[in-house]
Amino acid sequence: MRKSLILFCLAVGLFLFSITQAADTPIKLQQAHIYPSDKPSLQRGAKLFMNYCSGCHSLQYMRYQRIAEDLGISEKLLKENLIFSAAKPADPVESALLARDAKNWFGVVPPDLTLIAKIRGVDWLYTFLQAFYQDNNRPWGVNNLLFPEVAMPHVLAPLQGIQVYSALKPEQPQPTLSLEQPGLLTTREYDQAINDLVNFLAYTAAPEKLKRQYLGMGVLLFLAIFAILTYLLKREYWKKINERSF
Ligand code: HEC
Repeated sequence: MRKSLILFCLAVGLFLFSITQAADTPIKLQQAHIYPSDKPSLQRGAKLFMNYCSGCHSLQYMRYQRIAEDLGISEKLLKENLIFSAAKPADPVESALLARDAKNWFGVVPPDLTLIAKIRGVDWLYTFLQAFYQDNNRPWGVNNLLFPEVAMPHVLAPLQGIQVYSALKPEQPQPTLSLEQPGLLTTREYDQAINDLVNFLAYTAAPEKLKRQYLGMGVLLFLAIFAILTYLLKREYWKKINERSF
């Protein structure tokens, strides 16, 4: 009796889980390619973030200086290319947008994005930034397939261009978007740019990963050298013993 009750609860739990999962992702997620040690990609992502996102979103758990150090950006380049406010390198990345203004303009305060890659997942972020389309019924003239009725304008439209919704067809069970007006970047360049941006957000969500990787490589190198030394030492010790046994 108790067993069947447990099984029943499990089944209900699984069912509810699958519904919430399905409700969370109205479209199939596209895959982001994350390379935590690809510094040029992370640098491009940081630049995109500071230019296009930091006006509304903060990265309050990251300091400019830490980002520059981790990504190999000099203090001069940091000040010239990444800090657009009066912030100092030691300050956290705060947005200049006041919460009160944000409420007035968007109805919500744009969330901090430091940990967003952990919360939503990198594939979700990549797909979200691909999924804006023209919708004149929305306040900013855009909607999002993955985040219906999103309150965020499509700030990357100048790069991507304008996508329109293609009605569902029987042979296409997934809603699709097509590019009606191209932007400054080709589709491939835009995919790459978004991937860099998501790579950067994956870094801010787990900045120690970059250090861990270097540390790991250092440890392996040390072990390799140590193994050679130990082998040579062993040969040295056994030489005499081997000589004696003959
Ligand atoms: C003009 C202000 C503005 C800019 C610039 C902006 N956003 Fe947003 N963003 C918003 C608002 C407002 C929301 C909240 C949307 C909602 O809850 O409906 C949001 C939500 C998001 C979310 C969803 C967060 C969640 O899980 O609820 C992500 C991810 C995001 N933005 C990423 C970005 C990225 C990446 C950029 C830069 C390319 C960017 N945003 C630029 C205003 C902005």
